[in-house]
Amino acid sequence: MKTLHQRILLDGQALSDQVLKVDAFLNHQVDPMLTMDIGREFANVFQSEPITKVLTIEASGIHFALATAAALQVPFLYAKKKKAVTLTEELYTAEVFSFTRQETFQVSVSKRYLHAHDRVLIIDDFLATGDALLGLINIVQQAGAHLVGVGAVIEKSFQDGRSKLEAAGARIHSLARIASMSPNHIEFLETSDS
Ligand code: G4P
Ligand code: NA
Ligand code: NA
Repeated sequence: MKTLHQRILLDGQALSDQVLKVDAFLNHQVDPMLTMDIGREFANVFQSEPITKVLTIEASGIHFALATAAALQVPFLYAKKKKAVTLTEELYTAEVFSFTRQETFQVSVSKRYLHAHDRVLIIDDFLATGDALLGLINIVQQAGAHLVGVGAVIEKSFQDGRSKLEAAGARIHSLARIASMSPNHIEFLETSDS
């Protein structure tokens, strides 16, 4: 997605070869026009398959899930993060290890809003280690729902998230794929659809 690539080059900042700061437009201050364009792009990419629900995880996935769900005209659902392990019968839960925080947390979704007949598109801001997204895939599987695919706004292709999600059988589409970066350079993967 050309406008996204340009924006990352203009306003993104590689803090190291691992961490990309995008809080000027993506996950702190948010550009609503770019966000809506991103939602329409995801809707286009996955439109060949019926989708009944968009699923994300709080917090930084929420506005992209909203934009995508609005374009598809379906509801979106965001998984909640909790530290405490509360086993309740009304929730689907999955354990996620956070590489950035070096701790395990729990993601949960109410059984009330995810069902076996749902066809789910998962959306998130970053595809990095893929652990948070694997937690969401796990929840979709617990519900017996169909996973249509996973859309990530930015993929750090030098991390192993994509291969983990592919191993789980997911169709993945990332709008910007970063091959490598350093504080003064960001290199995108050249792909036909980016
Ligand atoms: P993921 O690949 O499934 O997203 O899982 P991972 O455990 O790798 O990512 C952990 C958190 O770090 C996620 O946010 C993810 O969006 C964020 N993240 C990963 N790499 C980068 C990066 O280079 N830059 C920035 N800005 N964020 C990154 P989270 O913990 O779910 O928190 P939230 O911000 O969504 O609340
Ligand atoms: Na996130
Ligand atoms: Na984040």
